[in-house]
Amino acid sequence: MKMTTPVVRTMVEEDIDTLVMIEEACFATPWTRQSFLHELHENPYANYFIMELDGIVIGYCGLWLVIDEAHITNIAIVPEYRGHKYGDLLFSAVVEKAKEAGAIQLSLEVRVSNVIAQKMYRKYGLIPGGIRKNYYTDNQEDALVMWVKL
Ligand SMILES: CC(C)(COP(=O)(O)OP(=O)(O)OC[C@H]1O[C@@H](n2cnc3c(N)ncnc32)[C@H](O)[C@@H]1OP(=O)(O)O)[C@@H](O)C(=O)NCCC(=O)NCCS
Repeated sequence: MKMTTPVVRTMVEEDIDTLVMIEEACFATPWTRQSFLHELHENPYANYFIMELDGIVIGYCGLWLVIDEAHITNIAIVPEYRGHKYGDLLFSAVVEKAKEAGAIQLSLEVRVSNVIAQKMYRKYGLIPGGIRKNYYTDNQEDALVMWVKL
């Protein structure tokens, strides 16, 4: 069987329809086409990366870079492709990009119930830094802030 390696590349506008589908499959409050268009064209701090396997988009990750601080806005792997280390590969690739850009600290918010993502972040040294109460609008769930020095 031929093994293929996923590729991480920069997001372009043509990816947005696929990303909206991924959002709808992955999140309770999915981002819309407008949110991605805003990030791509109007947010100077935003960097979005796509993971492709054999030409199929299987995940994405958003990174804000503000001077020397990096913030992960979102990361998702399409449900059918989870559990095969693609999330690991994508997250580590984006952490490398943050380092290359000169970031010295990286942070993110994650649902307190999302133990799978938290476990992945801990592998990269992220530790809990605080709680944002009622952060998620669909169920008022708290966000755990996690961060790491790069
Ligand atoms: C979080 C997510 C991106 C991980 O992607 P993935 O490709 O399934 O993860 P990987 O196979 O690369 O595993 C990476 C690590 O995640 C954790 N993990 C993944 N699946 C897990 C599971 N079923 N149970 C516990 N931990 C799990 C583990 O720490 C794993 O590393 P390990 O196998 O060495 O222990 C994916 O689950 C996802 O898209 N979730 C929905 C969206 C989401 O919650 N995003 C985070 C928003 S803050």
